[in-house]
Amino acid sequence: MRTGSLLMGLLSLVCALGVLAAEPIDIKFSHVVAADTPKGKAAERFAQLAKDKTQGRVKVTVYPNSTLYKDKEEMEALQLGAVQMLAPSLAKFGPLGVKEFEVFDLPYLFDGYEQLHKVTGGPVGKALLDKLADKGVLGLAYWDNGFKVMSANKPLKVPKDFRGQKMRIQSSKVLDAQMRALGANPQVMAFSEVYQALQTGVVDGTENPPSNLYTQKMHEVQKYVTLSDHGYLGYAVIVNKAFWEGLPPDIRGALEEAMAEATVYANEIAKQENEESLAKVKESGKSELITLTPEQKTEWKKALAPVHRKMADRVGKDLIQSIYEATGSDISKL
Ligand code: LMR
Repeated sequence: MRTGSLLMGLLSLVCALGVLAAEPIDIKFSHVVAADTPKGKAAERFAQLAKDKTQGRVKVTVYPNSTLYKDKEEMEALQLGAVQMLAPSLAKFGPLGVKEFEVFDLPYLFDGYEQLHKVTGGPVGKALLDKLADKGVLGLAYWDNGFKVMSANKPLKVPKDFRGQKMRIQSSKVLDAQMRALGANPQVMAFSEVYQALQTGVVDGTENPPSNLYTQKMHEVQKYVTLSDHGYLGYAVIVNKAFWEGLPPDIRGALEEAMAEATVYANEIAKQENEESLAKVKESGKSELITLTPEQKTEWKKALAPVHRKMADRVGKDLIQSIYEATGSDISKL
């Protein structure tokens, strides 16, 4: 009898351990954009790769479109461990205390993806990610989105067209300075609130890569979209440090592999996703696309070049210089 119940007890313990062992490690990956964007697709790809490479021992659940948290809240949630993974835009690290990431917001800092990758794929990009560790966060990768367009209900062709326009920006002091240099009135706002703010006239216009503009339907409430390519928007994929370092090494290794593959994918699709979104905006006929003449573009650059000097104290003069050196271009010389 006693042996029987001992055996039964052992059996249920073994079963319970079995269940425990089979219980996957949960990773909540929260982000603010649509699933059908470069970031949304890359997050899903990472989730699939993580499952495959860990034989189901890790379950990544992606929460797109601010369904879990808005911009500011998601950073706090990551630090508190309520979510494990995010990919905020590089413009949103100021509130976390790593304002150097705002360097990526400097207007016309990069000529295109090739120049950008010299930074995100090189020592400067790595050193920036390393700064996050002090904040209880680890930077795993850079994911591209793309180069921004400006939108409004009036055509924005030259800097004087911005005068008095209320323009929504992300929480970056560099973007604030950029809009002021154009004569606009910048307003910081969470991404999830932009469509409604544009629709109701709380703000007049905004900036974003075409993939964000299109998937949030902003073009339906903006009459004009200027193809200015005046700045870059991309992401740092970040995780809660304590969570990541507490993972079994084999699991962490598999997730690092999954991240490396998802990053290649993210950076492969970003340009095309933006081109397709722009084509769809055009097709919709809801916004008129404005292509700048070379003379107009020069006016934009002249108005915006001083932002580089003005923001040197905030983001770091040496950091800006190291980016000029890595890319071989220096707009501040204009
Ligand atoms: C924005 O707030 O405009 C963007 O950062 C959204 C995003 O994550 O691409």
